[in-house]
Amino acid sequence: MASWRRRLPSLPLLGLLSSLLLIQWPQPVAEASNAAAAGGVHHSLIRKPTSPNVPVFREAPAFRNGKTCGSPETSPIHVSMTLDANYLRGTMAAVLSILQHSTCPENFEFHFLCARFEPEVFSSINSTFPYLRYKVYRFDSNRVRGKISKSIRQALDQPLNYARIYLADMLPFHVNRVIYLDSDLVVVDDIAELWEVNLEGK
Ligand SMILES: *[C@@H]1O[C@H](CO)[C@@H](O)[C@H](O)[C@H]1NC(C)=O
Repeated sequence: MASWRRRLPSLPLLGLLSSLLLIQWPQPVAEASNAAAAGGVHHSLIRKPTSPNVPVFREAPAFRNGKTCGSPETSPIHVSMTLDANYLRGTMAAVLSILQHSTCPENFEFHFLCARFEPEVFSSINSTFPYLRYKVYRFDSNRVRGKISKSIRQALDQPLNYARIYLADMLPFHVNRVIYLDSDLVVVDDIAELWEVNLEGK
């Protein structure tokens, strides 16, 4: 059952800008829940992050850009990013830019990959984007232990950089397509257009 999912690294990927990938894998025949997933319901309580390492962000408005959005039949646009206290500013800017420029910001489901659970990071996401639908997955750094070349640039030697390769294993079965974004970009148009690109079975 799980064997096809391990084939992801060999799948051709579209948009090989290093920072942006649209990844699709075959439609699974059954759904399975992912035990590592957390999050879901949202609240509008504003809590200050407790750690001095996490900057304080202003609460983003509840974007409502399109009149015809929000139908329960609309299938979500899945976006995945890494989440790390050191790059939180970048992640916040990226998420804001996606919501701001999309016609239906309520359509998104974010899948955050993190190397460790940092409660102050999650409470910062919660307070900045109270309406964000997201799940968090822990990436076990041991999966890439010994596989990262010693000669690689220092900026790339963090195991979390390679978590994207394991997306198919980490995300729930019903997610069969995902846009992966690095944490150092802003999106300047409706990402739904990228989501709708036909990969023609590639
Ligand atoms: C963030 O919000 C989610 C959903 O309401 C909740 O389950 C989680 O405990 C919150 N995390 C923190 C650190 O506040």
